[in-house]
Amino acid sequence: MIPCSKTLLAAALAGGAVLLAACGGDDSDGGGGKTLSPEVIAEANEYFTNTCVSCHGTGGQGDGPGSASLNPKPRNYTDKAWQKQVTDEYLGKIIVYGGTAVGKSATMPGNPQLASKPDVVAALVAKIRGYAN
Ligand code: HEC
Repeated sequence: MIPCSKTLLAAALAGGAVLLAACGGDDSDGGGGKTLSPEVIAEANEYFTNTCVSCHGTGGQGDGPGSASLNPKPRNYTDKAWQKQVTDEYLGKIIVYGGTAVGKSATMPGNPQLASKPDVVAALVAKIRGYAN
């Protein structure tokens, strides 16, 4: 069920390149490499609940309990105009490497432990996209 070469993606990450771009090259399902297994989606959901909700909120609106004192505020994922401006690659990069990696606030922490889990990162990106649907 895993469409992309994990090794290839991990290598791309280690090189500081962006992960999802590596997806889909010789992927035969034609879906751009976005087919994620239920296990990966479950892991991403759990990770999001444990790690992201405190700031980004359960509804993804940037209003989690930890957001009150933050300036700038965590991104509101339901903002469709913002969603259009950002690529999946960019989202993967800020998730793994944190705000400073993309010129944003350091209060958006990196998750370097996900560098070896590109499929979980892809599922987190898909989850963020889902808030604006
Ligand atoms: C300690 C609070 C905090 C936690 C925890 C946190 N974030 Fe953030 N996040 C922020 C803040 C603050 C910003 C806004 C940064 C800025 O605008 O400079 C942000 C921005 C973002 C953005 C949007 C970047 C943009 O271009 O606007 C994404 C995507 C994101 N976070 C994803 C995540 C994910 C996924 C997790 C969990 C793995 C997470 N964040 C955990 C505080 C947090």
